[in-house]
Amino acid sequence: MSARDYDLDAYWIPFTSNRAFKESPRMFVAAKDMHYFTDDGRKVLDSSAGLWCVNAGHCRPSIVEAIKRQLETLDYSPAFQMGHPAEFRVATQLVDFAPKGLEHVFFANSGSEAVDSALKIALAYHRSRGEGHRTVLIGRERAYHGVGFGGISVGGMPANRKMYGSILPRVDHLPHTHNLEKNAFCRGQPVWGVHLANELEDRIIALHDASNIAAVIVEPVAGSTGVLVPPKGYLQRLRDICDKYGLLLIFDEIITGFGRTGQTFAADTFGVVPDMITFAKGVTNGTIPLSGVIVRKEIYDTLVNNAPPSVIDLFHGYTYSGHPVAMAAAEATLALYHDEQLFERVRNLAPYFEDAVHTLKDSPNVIDVRNIGLMAAVEMSAGQKPFGARGFDIFLRCFERNLLVRVTGDTIALSPPLIASRSHIDQIVDILSFAIKDANSA
Ligand SMILES: Cc1ncc(COP(=O)(O)O)c(C=O)c1O
Repeated sequence: MSARDYDLDAYWIPFTSNRAFKESPRMFVAAKDMHYFTDDGRKVLDSSAGLWCVNAGHCRPSIVEAIKRQLETLDYSPAFQMGHPAEFRVATQLVDFAPKGLEHVFFANSGSEAVDSALKIALAYHRSRGEGHRTVLIGRERAYHGVGFGGISVGGMPANRKMYGSILPRVDHLPHTHNLEKNAFCRGQPVWGVHLANELEDRIIALHDASNIAAVIVEPVAGSTGVLVPPKGYLQRLRDICDKYGLLLIFDEIITGFGRTGQTFAADTFGVVPDMITFAKGVTNGTIPLSGVIVRKEIYDTLVNNAPPSVIDLFHGYTYSGHPVAMAAAEATLALYHDEQLFERVRNLAPYFEDAVHTLKDSPNVIDVRNIGLMAAVEMSAGQKPFGARGFDIFLRCFERNLLVRVTGDTIALSPPLIASRSHIDQIVDILSFAIKDANSA
């Protein structure tokens, strides 16, 4: 089927130039393992795991079968006041996967909902303890926490915020950790930058007073803004300051969860345990929307035990929280990660991936390459072009050469499915290298 056989007008595509896309559409019609297939018969290598979510590769039979079976058995079960076995099983498995002390799971659907849920749980927790004055939420510049009003408020990507006046008023932001002068072409965690966490105490707590602050939310590795790896000691410093002043620390692991950094969660990779972890994407291998928040035991106990018996303990939830089909997808996905030891595979492959991406250092206009686990970014200078133009040009040139990359501004982000082989990595880097050169001479 060609893209012109059907009308493109009605659908409003998110986070896309609809005019540019509809003039020159890019259509996927199928996928298998490391590849997509286009409507014009091309096989496209997926270097971004869809949108950072297809960690086990596309159309894995065990997940597809589990979804089919579930649909034939229990299509939907009310999310409130009723239960079905799979949601309890998946929650238990996630707790087993999570760092010690995080013992309860709240389900939502999208990453944005998970973030808003975590922020609301933080506010509710403090209020339930008699500290309802703790309402300030702290995010970070350049952060991406989805598109809900909570998420854009604590988020720090200006384009995502600027059109929406009524974002939450009681927020503040840590500085981001990106610094080309100090850390360009760093492999893994930068050594420089731990002091940036001190801003939490020196400026933010000093300004708002700790007694007014509910929580700090960060992506352990900032993903969507272009893979900013935390400086050594930075996350621990945040943890220490949060502990000192009674602030909850939330790790938004919607990208980093499920093996991307070589462990189930980046919390494990960096050895820092937050009070809540948000997850989504990889939990179902991208097949069915599912997200959630894993919370520390004390948070759950406080909210549940402080509510009078028979009274709802948290006035929050979604029609599709714990959806049976999403649960089936999650169970099959978690089993696959375990059976194929995919997170261990990341740890083994990461050094090869790191060497490969850093060969792009000398390509024209490349001003930084950074990486951890199976995620990396190649940052380009905008040069004389408008911000983002070179990045988009490279994205298109890669696609012409049958490679899907993710672009954010002038940064190319790579996050292949965890089943990638060395030869896939070679292909990704080769094609990207050609595209960067082509874009330079255009
Ligand atoms: C860290 C982080 N938080 C939240 C989100 C939002 O997830 P969703 O698009 O499913 O709402 C994303 C999406 O990429 C993300 O990377």
